[in-house]
Amino acid sequence: MTKIFVFLLPLIITFSQTFPATGADHNPAFLKSVKRNPMKLRTEKLSHFQFYWHDIISGPNPTVVNIIQPPKTNKTTPTGFGMVNMIDDPLTEKPETGSQLLGRAQGFYGVASQGELGLLMAMNFVFLTGKYNGSTLTVLGRNPVFHKVREMPVIGGSGLFRFARGYVQASTHSFDLKTGDAVVEYNVHVLHY
Ligand SMILES: *[C@@H]1O[C@H](CO)[C@@H](O)[C@H](O)[C@H]1NC(C)=O
Ligand SMILES: *[C@@H]1O[C@H](CO)[C@@H](O)[C@H](O)[C@H]1NC(C)=O
Repeated sequence: MTKIFVFLLPLIITFSQTFPATGADHNPAFLKSVKRNPMKLRTEKLSHFQFYWHDIISGPNPTVVNIIQPPKTNKTTPTGFGMVNMIDDPLTEKPETGSQLLGRAQGFYGVASQGELGLLMAMNFVFLTGKYNGSTLTVLGRNPVFHKVREMPVIGGSGLFRFARGYVQASTHSFDLKTGDAVVEYNVHVLHY
Protein backbone atom coordinates (compact mmCIF):
# COMPACT_ATOMS: atom_id res chain seq x y z
CA MET A 1 0.00 0.00 0.00
CA THR A 2 2.68 2.45 1.07
CA LYS A 3 4.73 1.46 -1.93
CA ILE A 4 1.84 2.15 -4.29
CA PHE A 5 1.25 5.54 -2.65
CA VAL A 6 4.90 6.49 -2.95
CA PHE A 7 4.77 5.42 -6.56
CA LEU A 8 1.64 7.51 -7.21
CA LEU A 9 2.75 10.58 -5.24
CA PRO A 10 4.59 12.32 -8.12
CA LEU A 11 1.55 11.72 -10.32
CA ILE A 12 -0.82 13.20 -7.70
CA ILE A 13 1.40 16.28 -7.33
CA THR A 14 1.62 16.76 -11.10
CA PHE A 15 -2.16 16.35 -11.41
CA SER A 16 -2.95 18.87 -8.66
CA GLN A 17 -0.59 21.42 -10.21
CA THR A 18 -2.08 21.02 -13.66
CA PHE A 19 -5.67 21.17 -12.44
CA PRO A 20 -5.59 23.29 -9.28
CA ALA A 21 -8.68 23.16 -7.10
CA THR A 22 -10.92 26.13 -7.79
CA GLY A 23 -12.51 28.29 -5.11
CA ALA A 24 -11.60 31.48 -3.31
CA ASP A 25 -9.73 29.62 -0.56
CA HIS A 26 -7.11 28.39 -2.97
CA ASN A 27 -6.55 31.65 -4.84
CA PRO A 28 -3.35 33.40 -3.95
CA ALA A 29 -3.89 36.77 -2.27
CA PHE A 30 -2.82 38.76 -5.31
CA LEU A 31 -5.40 37.15 -7.59
CA LYS A 32 -9.08 37.97 -7.18
CA SER A 33 -11.87 37.56 -9.65
CA VAL A 34 -13.69 40.79 -10.52
CA LYS A 35 -17.34 40.96 -11.42
CA ARG A 36 -17.74 42.32 -14.90
CA ASN A 37 -20.36 44.87 -13.90
CA PRO A 38 -20.37 45.09 -10.11
CA MET A 39 -22.48 48.29 -10.05
CA LYS A 40 -25.02 46.84 -12.48
CA LEU A 41 -24.55 49.80 -14.81
CA ARG A 42 -26.72 49.69 -17.88
CA THR A 43 -25.47 50.95 -21.21
CA GLU A 44 -24.24 54.51 -21.31
CA LYS A 45 -26.70 57.00 -22.80
CA LEU A 46 -26.53 60.52 -24.11
CA SER A 47 -29.07 62.98 -22.71
CA HIS A 48 -29.83 66.49 -23.87
CA PHE A 49 -31.37 69.03 -21.50
CA GLN A 50 -32.42 72.54 -22.33
CA PHE A 51 -33.31 75.11 -19.72
CA TYR A 52 -32.92 78.77 -18.79
CA TRP A 53 -30.56 80.07 -16.12
CA HIS A 54 -31.70 83.21 -14.31
CA ASP A 55 -29.00 85.41 -12.76
CA ILE A 56 -31.08 87.85 -10.70
CA ILE A 57 -29.18 90.78 -9.21
CA SER A 58 -31.98 93.33 -8.81
CA GLY A 59 -35.23 93.30 -6.83
CA PRO A 60 -36.11 92.01 -3.38
CA ASN A 61 -34.94 88.43 -3.98
CA PRO A 62 -31.57 88.45 -5.73
CA THR A 63 -30.03 85.05 -6.49
CA VAL A 64 -26.52 86.48 -6.85
CA VAL A 65 -24.34 87.90 -4.10
CA ASN A 66 -20.99 89.56 -4.64
CA ILE A 67 -18.53 87.88 -2.28
CA ILE A 68 -15.18 89.27 -3.49
CA GLN A 69 -14.32 92.67 -4.94
CA PRO A 70 -11.00 93.11 -6.72
CA PRO A 71 -8.45 95.14 -4.73
CA LYS A 72 -8.58 98.86 -5.54
CA THR A 73 -5.22 99.37 -7.18
CA ASN A 74 -4.44 101.34 -10.29
CA LYS A 75 -4.02 98.01 -12.03
CA THR A 76 -7.76 97.28 -11.84
CA THR A 77 -8.89 96.33 -15.31
CA PRO A 78 -12.11 97.49 -16.96
CA THR A 79 -13.39 93.89 -16.81
CA GLY A 80 -13.32 93.81 -13.01
CA PHE A 81 -10.67 91.10 -12.96
CA GLY A 82 -10.77 89.35 -9.58
CA MET A 83 -14.46 89.85 -8.77
CA VAL A 84 -16.35 86.76 -7.53
CA ASN A 85 -20.12 86.24 -7.18
CA MET A 86 -21.89 83.37 -5.43
CA ILE A 87 -25.09 82.19 -7.09
CA ASP A 88 -28.20 80.15 -6.36
CA ASP A 89 -29.88 80.70 -9.71
CA PRO A 90 -33.20 79.16 -10.74
CA LEU A 91 -33.22 76.90 -13.82
CA THR A 92 -36.55 77.05 -15.61
CA GLU A 93 -38.19 75.36 -18.53
CA LYS A 94 -38.94 78.61 -20.42
CA PRO A 95 -37.17 81.98 -20.40
CA GLU A 96 -39.98 83.70 -18.45
CA THR A 97 -39.32 84.23 -14.74
CA GLY A 98 -42.48 82.45 -13.57
CA SER A 99 -41.88 79.41 -15.79
CA GLN A 100 -41.70 75.90 -14.27
CA LEU A 101 -38.70 75.49 -11.97
CA LEU A 102 -36.54 72.51 -13.00
CA GLY A 103 -33.61 73.00 -10.66
CA ARG A 104 -31.01 75.46 -9.45
CA ALA A 105 -27.48 76.42 -10.40
CA GLN A 106 -25.45 76.73 -7.20
CA GLY A 107 -21.84 77.81 -7.14
CA PHE A 108 -19.82 80.82 -8.11
CA TYR A 109 -18.30 82.65 -11.01
CA GLY A 110 -15.34 84.96 -11.07
CA VAL A 111 -13.84 87.36 -13.56
CA ALA A 112 -10.72 85.46 -14.56
CA SER A 113 -9.67 87.41 -17.64
CA GLN A 114 -7.82 90.71 -17.86
CA GLY A 115 -8.69 91.20 -21.51
CA GLU A 116 -12.22 90.47 -22.66
CA LEU A 117 -14.85 89.68 -20.01
CA GLY A 118 -14.20 85.99 -19.36
CA LEU A 119 -15.61 84.18 -16.34
CA LEU A 120 -14.48 81.08 -14.55
CA MET A 121 -17.74 79.23 -13.77
CA ALA A 122 -17.88 76.55 -11.05
CA MET A 123 -21.42 75.43 -10.40
CA ASN A 124 -23.60 72.45 -9.61
CA PHE A 125 -26.93 72.02 -11.33
CA VAL A 126 -29.23 70.38 -8.79
CA PHE A 127 -32.41 69.06 -10.37
CA LEU A 128 -35.64 69.31 -8.41
CA THR A 129 -38.23 67.59 -10.57
CA GLY A 130 -39.14 64.18 -11.93
CA LYS A 131 -36.77 61.23 -11.84
CA TYR A 132 -33.71 63.48 -11.70
CA ASN A 133 -34.90 65.12 -8.46
CA GLY A 134 -31.84 65.41 -6.21
CA SER A 135 -29.31 64.42 -8.89
CA THR A 136 -26.58 66.90 -9.76
CA LEU A 137 -24.28 67.83 -12.63
CA THR A 138 -21.06 69.76 -12.10
CA VAL A 139 -19.95 72.38 -14.62
CA LEU A 140 -16.49 73.90 -14.56
CA GLY A 141 -15.28 76.06 -17.41
CA ARG A 142 -14.56 79.34 -19.10
CA ASN A 143 -17.42 81.63 -20.02
CA PRO A 144 -16.56 84.60 -22.28
CA VAL A 145 -20.00 86.12 -21.73
CA PHE A 146 -20.12 88.32 -24.83
CA HIS A 147 -19.60 85.39 -27.20
CA LYS A 148 -22.77 84.12 -28.84
CA VAL A 149 -22.25 80.51 -27.67
CA ARG A 150 -19.97 79.55 -24.78
CA GLU A 151 -19.01 75.95 -24.22
CA MET A 152 -18.07 74.56 -20.83
CA PRO A 153 -17.33 71.00 -19.69
CA VAL A 154 -19.59 68.91 -17.49
CA ILE A 155 -17.01 67.24 -15.31
CA GLY A 156 -19.15 64.89 -13.25
CA GLY A 157 -22.42 64.22 -11.53
CA SER A 158 -24.24 62.45 -8.73
CA GLY A 159 -27.34 60.31 -8.33
CA LEU A 160 -28.64 59.36 -11.77
CA PHE A 161 -25.72 61.32 -13.23
CA ARG A 162 -22.95 59.23 -11.67
CA PHE A 163 -19.96 59.01 -14.03
CA ALA A 164 -21.42 61.90 -16.08
CA ARG A 165 -19.31 63.73 -18.59
CA GLY A 166 -20.26 66.11 -21.34
CA TYR A 167 -20.55 69.77 -22.15
CA VAL A 168 -22.92 72.71 -21.92
CA GLN A 169 -23.50 75.42 -24.46
CA ALA A 170 -24.66 78.71 -22.99
CA SER A 171 -26.14 81.55 -25.01
CA THR A 172 -27.54 84.76 -23.58
CA HIS A 173 -31.29 85.06 -24.01
CA SER A 174 -31.61 88.50 -22.43
CA PHE A 175 -29.41 90.88 -20.51
CA ASP A 176 -30.64 93.98 -18.70
CA LEU A 177 -27.90 96.60 -18.99
CA LYS A 178 -29.42 98.69 -16.16
CA THR A 179 -29.75 95.97 -13.51
CA GLY A 180 -27.30 93.34 -14.75
CA ASP A 181 -30.02 90.65 -14.63
CA ALA A 182 -29.40 87.93 -17.20
CA VAL A 183 -31.33 85.00 -18.63
CA VAL A 184 -29.10 82.45 -20.35
CA GLU A 185 -30.18 79.44 -22.39
CA TYR A 186 -28.28 76.28 -21.47
CA ASN A 187 -28.09 73.25 -23.73
CA VAL A 188 -26.55 70.35 -21.87
CA HIS A 189 -25.27 67.17 -23.53
CA VAL A 190 -24.21 64.56 -21.07
CA LEU A 191 -23.19 60.89 -21.18
CA HIS A 192 -24.35 58.91 -18.14
CA TYR A 193 -25.89 55.56 -17.22
C1 LIG B 1 -2.88 105.74 -8.92
O1 LIG B 1 -2.34 106.63 -9.92
C2 LIG B 1 -2.31 107.99 -9.53
C3 LIG B 1 -1.81 108.84 -10.68
O2 LIG B 1 -1.69 108.11 -11.85
C4 LIG B 1 -1.40 108.15 -8.31
O3 LIG B 1 -1.40 109.52 -7.89
C5 LIG B 1 -1.90 107.27 -7.19
O4 LIG B 1 -1.02 107.33 -6.09
C6 LIG B 1 -2.04 105.82 -7.66
N1 LIG B 1 -2.65 105.01 -6.61
C7 LIG B 1 -2.17 103.81 -6.26
C8 LIG B 1 -2.94 103.13 -5.19
O5 LIG B 1 -1.17 103.33 -6.73
C1 LIG C 1 -37.81 66.06 -4.62
O1 LIG C 1 -37.19 65.44 -3.51
C2 LIG C 1 -37.43 66.12 -2.27
C3 LIG C 1 -36.57 65.46 -1.21
O2 LIG C 1 -36.42 64.11 -1.41
C4 LIG C 1 -38.90 66.06 -1.96
O3 LIG C 1 -39.17 66.75 -0.74
C5 LIG C 1 -39.66 66.74 -3.10
O4 LIG C 1 -41.06 66.64 -2.87
C6 LIG C 1 -39.31 66.11 -4.42
N1 LIG C 1 -39.92 66.88 -5.49
C7 LIG C 1 -40.56 66.33 -6.52
C8 LIG C 1 -41.15 67.27 -7.49
O5 LIG C 1 -40.67 65.13 -6.66
